[in-house]
Parts: sequence; structure tokens; C-alpha cells
Amino acid sequence: MSSAILQKLNSDHKNIAKILYCFRAEIKEYEDPEVEPSLTQIMNILDYISTVPERWHHPVEDIVFKRLLEKHPPHSAQIRAVLREHEDLERLTQELKTAFEQVSLDIAVPISHLYKTAHIYLSRQMLHLDAEESVLFPMAEEYLDENDWADIEQEADVILESYDDAARKAYKDLCEEILDFEAE
Ligand SMILES: [Fe+2]
Ligand SMILES: [Fe+2]
Repeated sequence: MSSAILQKLNSDHKNIAKILYCFRAEIKEYEDPEVEPSLTQIMNILDYISTVPERWHHPVEDIVFKRLLEKHPPHSAQIRAVLREHEDLERLTQELKTAFEQVSLDIAVPISHLYKTAHIYLSRQMLHLDAEESVLFPMAEEYLDENDWADIEQEADVILESYDDAARKAYKDLCEEILDFEAE
């Protein structure tokens, strides 16, 4: 039976993946000159990504993966790469946010470049989830013991303190709004 933290990280991934699919659908609209992508939807998605995964999911993973590195497991280079990627993805989210904000303000932004950047960002996000689910989470399960998980939980509690009921409700509502928009 995997730890409660791993189960939570895995279930976070399900929501993150759904949000990424919505982003892909929205970005795809740039391929059709007849369709106007919704900037509100794109900004909602980037707001969600810069908050739920980046404030409450990545930092908890960082604790797990750093603890895992202390066990000298195989693939340590890949673990380090995933840790670095959290920083890279967070930077890219901010860059995309700025670029789409400029689009919404009618500031000239080369759309084909933005479209390409958004595509690369999406594949990196998807590959990231995949690497964690197929390699890092199973390794954490294998190498970390009960004491490790108890320590990790304590550290994670500090991060998750700000993920209180009000924040949970606000971002659950935002997630639903994003999914509903795409389902229409
Ligand atoms: Fe991650
Ligand atoms: Fe993750």
C-alpha cells in the first residue's frame, strides 16, 4: 500500500493532466484562423498551473525526491533532472502568462512563436508527469520506509498549511470552470 503522500501526488496528476488537455485543446484553436481561442480560458489554466501544481504539488515532490536521492537509488541523474525541471516549468509558466497577457492587451506578440512555445511547454509538462509516474513514484515507494514517509509528511504539512479549505474550494471551482468550458 503506497503512502498517503504518494496517493495524493498521483491523484493531483489526474487533475493536472485534465487541465493540460484543456490547454492543448485551447492552443489547437490557433491552427484554425476562423476560431478565436479564449484568452480567459488560457489565463485561467495558467493561473491554475502556477498555483495548484507549482505551489502545492512540486514542493511536496521536491521533499520526496530529495529524500529519495539520499538513498542513492539508480537513475539519480533523472531524479535531479526532474527536480530542475520544476524550476524550468515554473519559469515557462510565468513566461507564457506574460505573453498571453500581452496578447490580451493587444500588444503585438508573434502568435506562431507563442503557439510553438506553448506546444513545447505542453509536451514537457506531459513528459514530466510521465517520468514521475513511471520512474520516480515507484522508486520512492520502493526505497522510502515508514520513517521517511513520517518525516516527509511533517515537512509537507508546512507547505500544505496554506492549502486551506478556502484555497481548496477556490481552486476546485477554478478547475471545474476550466473543464466545463472545454466540455461546452
Ligand atoms: Fe513534478
Ligand atoms: Fe508531479
